[in-house]
Amino acid sequence: GNNNINAKLVLLGDMGAGKSSLVLRFVKGQFLEFQESTIGAAFFSQTLAVNDATVKFEIWDTAGQERYHSLAPMYYRGAAAAIIVYDISSTESFSRAKKWVQELQKQGNPNMVMALAGNKADLEEKRKVLAEASRSRVYAEENGLFFLETSAKTAANREDCLEPSRHKIQQE
Ligand code: GTP
Ligand code: MG
Repeated sequence: GNNNINAKLVLLGDMGAGKSSLVLRFVKGQFLEFQESTIGAAFFSQTLAVNDATVKFEIWDTAGQERYHSLAPMYYRGAAAAIIVYDISSTESFSRAKKWVQELQKQGNPNMVMALAGNKADLEEKRKVLAEASRSRVYAEENGLFFLETSAKTAANREDCLEPSRHKIQQE
């Protein structure tokens, strides 16, 4: 049978939240303390074995700077899954994440699976956005999102980050 699946994945979120770092962690197993801010968007692909299938992830890592906002629909249209990233040490980035969720709920593909990722989970001492039984988790539940905290630095939850895409693939 045809066990080759393409899964288009998009990362959205505030500048500096760690989208590129999560992608770099996933694709190359690396972390850079001084990751450059993304211009426009960057494309990566990664092939993984999921159950009996070979899944080719086509990953669009978008730029969080406001001036690139108008480009975003090009990247989230047709995506099977979106990961909306915020930084747990920034309430502003959490507000921005909620705006992305609203935009996707209004204008995104209704079948798209969404995940909310509270990144920089290693910065516990700088935490501003509470996690368990709190704002982010409750918000995620209310909006039907997967929720997890991640760290591109320590690689916490790096695999789990792709859970929504796996879920989507299993549905198809
Ligand atoms: P834009 O491309 O501007 O939208 O930003 P981005 O969301 O891609 O953020 P990026 O990956 O460039 O990370 C911004 C900064 O945060 C970099 O200096 C990273 O090293 C740092 N960073 C990213 N992820 C983590 C993390 O999990 N923990 C810590 N401590 N730092 C992180
Ligand atoms: Mg980036």
